[in-house]
Amino acid sequence: MALKITVIGTGYLGATHAAAMAELGFEVLGLDVVPEKIDMLRRGEVPMYEPGLEELLRRHVAGIEGSTGRLRFTMDWAEVGEFGDLHFVCVNTPQRHGEYACDMSYVDSAFASLAPHLTGPALVVGKSTVPVGSADRLAAYLAEHAPAGGDAELAWNPEFLREGFAVQDTLRPDRVVVGVRSERAEKLLREVYATPVAEGTPFVVTDFPTAELVKTSANSFLATKISFINAMAELCEATGGDVAKLAEAIGYDDRIGPKFLRAGIGFGGGCLPKDIRAFMARAGELGADQALTFLREIDSINMRQRGRMVELTRQALGGGAFLGKRVAVLGATFKPDSDDVRDSPALNVAGQIHLQGGQVTVYDPKGMDNARRLFPTLGYADSAPAAVRGADVVLHLTEWQEFRELDPAALGEVAAQRLILDGRNALDAEVWRRAGWRYRAMGRPTA
Ligand code: UDX
Repeated sequence: MALKITVIGTGYLGATHAAAMAELGFEVLGLDVVPEKIDMLRRGEVPMYEPGLEELLRRHVAGIEGSTGRLRFTMDWAEVGEFGDLHFVCVNTPQRHGEYACDMSYVDSAFASLAPHLTGPALVVGKSTVPVGSADRLAAYLAEHAPAGGDAELAWNPEFLREGFAVQDTLRPDRVVVGVRSERAEKLLREVYATPVAEGTPFVVTDFPTAELVKTSANSFLATKISFINAMAELCEATGGDVAKLAEAIGYDDRIGPKFLRAGIGFGGGCLPKDIRAFMARAGELGADQALTFLREIDSINMRQRGRMVELTRQALGGGAFLGKRVAVLGATFKPDSDDVRDSPALNVAGQIHLQGGQVTVYDPKGMDNARRLFPTLGYADSAPAAVRGADVVLHLTEWQEFRELDPAALGEVAAQRLILDGRNALDAEVWRRAGWRYRAMGRPTA
């Protein structure tokens, strides 16, 4: 009989995981404590923008015409406890307010709500990104509080999905990593991931701390690559070099590779910034803070890029104050193909210029509602040309495909000045220059 799976927490990670599990053929029950989210999901609607996710959900959510009916949603913990052979915990672990450490309260409360309902054999699988050592602690908690005792076991199975590619990353991950303490746990997880593994996905079996560390170290490595290339961009600016060429050239070395070497205004979002900070905080608690002091520098190089973009804009406008200058901002989300504006470098830059007196107008293909909620005092336009109309400078801050397809000649007709600053090194400089624009980018020569 097919395994029955529950997914606790139906945010980004959980909604995607639940739909993917149904796609793999399992019976799935998703739980969330927010009634509005459950209502939306039951209608096959997704609370965020993620390419392909709504289609996947609608293929499986019970009650939707033509669906397999394999995916249902509930708010009832007893039903979850009763239903699942495996329970995937997918709640979020945000940065604690005013601190580096991560907030484990959602994870802890999920375990507290679930444990009393684990009356028979079950495998609880943590997916949330947590400080190393959490799995040990949570396993002890389950042993003490689940009526099934040792039959309610824990495993840790970190998630590496990227926003914008969540569906593909979940169905065809680069690797599956499982931290387990028994053969039974390994066997169950092998069954869950049999399809991707049969298609060639490596399956790495390890202990709890290693599984937890794989996630935080992978994100730290990615953050390091981005800050490294941004540091090189600063050197290029100081010397007249071109960071895009530099990245291309070092990327041909197999040992370095071409990915995550795009210089610009740096990384943001709900993961990389908070994960490297929580990692540093945890290392401090473990007395190993020296091992991660370099991450402080990675974080500070990253944050510095936002201020550098503001200064580049000021200089390009001839120096002095922003007062009276009209600034068009293309992009509000922290990356393209997402509506997520959490810790978005683009909105941070827009906000800084606004606070310094610039008249900022933002346009983003999918992030407008979230941006408006977060920065209600910025100006907004409902298309790129509308944002650019009358602008003294255009800032390209999130590299949506839509912006690469813009017609620089037509935009030049409506802008007050043909001046574009590419904060993502993602536009074709020659195309813009041919249309009469002054094109500038971080870490690259001015002409
Ligand atoms: C990241 C990890 O990639 C993923 O494996 C993990 O599970 C969650 O965190 P995500 O936050 O979706 O995923 O975004 P990612 O694609 O990694 O980009 C993060 C940030 O880095 C974005 O702001 C992006 O614009 C920036 N970035 C990325 C660069 O500035 N330069 C690059 O070369 C690549």
